[in-house]
Amino acid sequence: MIHIENLSKEYKTKKGTVIGVNQVNLSITEGEVFGVVGYSGAGKSSLLRCINLLEQPTSGSIKVNGRDLTKLKGENLRNARLKIGMIFQHFYLISQKTVGENIAFALKAANTPRREIKSRVLELLEMVGLTEKKDVYPAQLSGGQKQRVGIARALANNPTVLLCDEATSALDPNTTLSILRLLKKINRELNITIVLITHEMNVVKEICDRMAVMQDGRVVEEGSVYEIFSNPQAELTKEFISSVVSFEVPEAILNKVTGSIIKVLFKGNVAGEGIISDTVQQFDVRGNFLHGAIEYIQEVPLGLFLMELQGHPANINRSISYMEGRGGLVEVIRNGH
Ligand SMILES: Nc1ncnc2c1ncn2[C@@H]1O[C@H](COP(=O)(O)OP(=O)(O)OP(=O)(O)O)[C@@H](O)[C@H]1O
Ligand SMILES: [Mg+2]
Repeated sequence: MIHIENLSKEYKTKKGTVIGVNQVNLSITEGEVFGVVGYSGAGKSSLLRCINLLEQPTSGSIKVNGRDLTKLKGENLRNARLKIGMIFQHFYLISQKTVGENIAFALKAANTPRREIKSRVLELLEMVGLTEKKDVYPAQLSGGQKQRVGIARALANNPTVLLCDEATSALDPNTTLSILRLLKKINRELNITIVLITHEMNVVKEICDRMAVMQDGRVVEEGSVYEIFSNPQAELTKEFISSVVSFEVPEAILNKVTGSIIKVLFKGNVAGEGIISDTVQQFDVRGNFLHGAIEYIQEVPLGLFLMELQGHPANINRSISYMEGRGGLVEVIRNGH
């Protein structure tokens, strides 16, 4: 769907060359929601803006639906770009135009016949749940409503791809959730591939299928959100994940613990099977939870627990084997003393 090969973007400034994107390779599959995370300045926006050629890449290629956008010019490039919608953190609505006119503007830009515009605007407003706001000006809308207009405008010309640059960063948590649900609906019902930039792991957890982590213009980790949340590799990824799944236990508490400390991870439905309580009953050990939660990553459970096991060392070993036998991934953090 989207194939990015050896993509680099350099900016020439008075102070010299600034690297925005550095040799990035990524493939994004049709119909998925792909998240890009990274700290400020990592190159996320530069990458996204290269995907629709809002920025001209310095080198590399970007193929969308099999066509290399970097090779297109004029009319062909304009047409290809109409099939890539984009929404932004600050919406960029035209304040002198009503909600309906803002959306119609995008249709006019694509030379949509006049008689089709009116009905298409109504269709789009219904899709984003803003039918009653057609004749209202942007200043009279809440942030979430403004973003809904932004989404309607981005969908006006039936894009196959929707790029979202921090689309929920200016919104409160509830509004964020409602916008994410709308994006998911668009993804599923219209089969639009979504590439979404965020610095919030909760956004990724909520709607992304796969993700990439960027640092200094490069992709340092890439994979399924579930796999990355269960087993992050790069230090930066671990840092991001820790905002959602963290094992930080105060030193003072750990010092008081005399038994063995283990970390247990359950992937998928086994997370809800009560394996830990079965273990404690069967092997004459005492289990003491230090930390833990079951997270749901797109409705698939991921159980992560830090616990102390007290008992005879042989029983502790049997307990660990038993949990592993039932699908747990166990790591011994410290043996008992
Ligand atoms: N138009 C530009 N001219 C010069 N340098 C730029 C330009 N746009 C981006 N950069 C530089 O490129 C690098 C990547 O910037 P980019 O905006 O892509 O990061 P980002 O990950 O989107 O950050 P943020 O989370 O703050 O939006 C930064 O060092 C930035 O200063
Ligand atoms: Mg940015």
